[in-house]
Amino acid sequence: MKIAIPKERRQYESRVAASPDTVKRLVGMGLELVVESGAGAGASYPDRAYQAAGATIAPDAAATLRDADIVLKVQRPIVGDGQDELADFKRGSVLIATLQALQHPDEVAAYAAAGITAFAMELIPRITRAQSMDVLSSQANLAGYRAVLDGATEFGRAFPMMMTAAGTVAPARVLVMGAGVAGLQAIATARRLGAVVSATDVRAAAKEQVESLGATFLTVDIEAMKAAETAGGYAKEMGEDFQRRQREHLHEALKKIDIAICTALIPGRKAPILITREMVDDMRPGSVIVDLAVEQGGNCEGSEFAKVVTTANGVTIVGHANVPSRIAVDASQLYAKNLLNFLALIVDKDKNLKIDPADEIIKGTLLTRDGAVVHPELAAAPAIIPPSPPAGETKPDQPAGA
Ligand code: NAI
Repeated sequence: MKIAIPKERRQYESRVAASPDTVKRLVGMGLELVVESGAGAGASYPDRAYQAAGATIAPDAAATLRDADIVLKVQRPIVGDGQDELADFKRGSVLIATLQALQHPDEVAAYAAAGITAFAMELIPRITRAQSMDVLSSQANLAGYRAVLDGATEFGRAFPMMMTAAGTVAPARVLVMGAGVAGLQAIATARRLGAVVSATDVRAAAKEQVESLGATFLTVDIEAMKAAETAGGYAKEMGEDFQRRQREHLHEALKKIDIAICTALIPGRKAPILITREMVDDMRPGSVIVDLAVEQGGNCEGSEFAKVVTTANGVTIVGHANVPSRIAVDASQLYAKNLLNFLALIVDKDKNLKIDPADEIIKGTLLTRDGAVVHPELAAAPAIIPPSPPAGETKPDQPAGA
């Protein structure tokens, strides 16, 4: 069985779907690994490291994907825009990546039309057995860490309190909005740097977790918050009254805050606006807002995707794209490990594909099979699209980062 690791071709992506460590483990299982030349460069993994781990290096995407049974990727393949990464996939091959399937049902239909069996890693159910495959957690954890460092870089002051002969430096005041995986790591990181940290969330369960990290929890309405969590542990969209009170509360808090880290998300929805323009206007000059939710529309009015902007009153709003990719070595290593654990679920000890549709993890992630869209949330109304070009018809590469 041949496993292919093509180079990522989307803008702002430096990660890679396999590390030399996971390649070594897969080769040790008797699988054949082919890595596209340069695939690991953005994550500081040179071709020779993959070769030493037992992989073959292929010169381009077409050679990498030729006859591959399984293709491991970080980002969803580019389909359209004058390119078609699916063109090189063998019919019947398996694609495993973060496919943003619910946001791009037309692309899921394209996987089916190309005869690809696609698994969306972002849909791994949040059950104990799947924790080692949970790419959202592994990447959000690193993004939360990196967001604090990105904020510290833009901040013209220090984080810790320092008592020096020349005077005392006050500690930075950090407010973390959204205390999920990224937010909790942001709290821990800001605390390690010496900041005074507070945090807010709509889920009541977050209060104890925030406090256990030594931060103060800003509560709006603890009774309303008890009903704010879905069975899956995610936040629900809150009512207008709660949102208004939350804004009033945050407006006052932000006047005394130096750095706000925004991580609030609601699955399948646009991110909630937590910081309005009026709030930004009332923040002190030199304050910094890091909007980790910018790719889902942003938690802060005025944040711009892939930009760092400074407002007229001197507040810097950081909207970096793809924050996990800004810490590409660790992000790739953990992502690759998530995929390795997932592969153990679908490849048996005789190196054959064994996809059990009754398995909860398979059920949650399997999008397409035998030319059809099979995921329960997508199968009802598959988009109708023309079949993809025949295998072998390759399109010119888009340079990484272009
Ligand atoms: P997420 O990335 O969807 O959202 C981030 C945070 O934003 C969440 O804590 C959410 O409650 C919060 N939020 C949403 N709207 C908000 C608003 N208006 N104001 C303030 N905060 C708001 O969530 P994430 O980080 O993926 O984690 C969600 C939950 O899943 C957490 O409880 C986490 O502990 C749990 N989890 C469970 C796992 C398992 O295997 N059992 C694995 C990973 C996470």
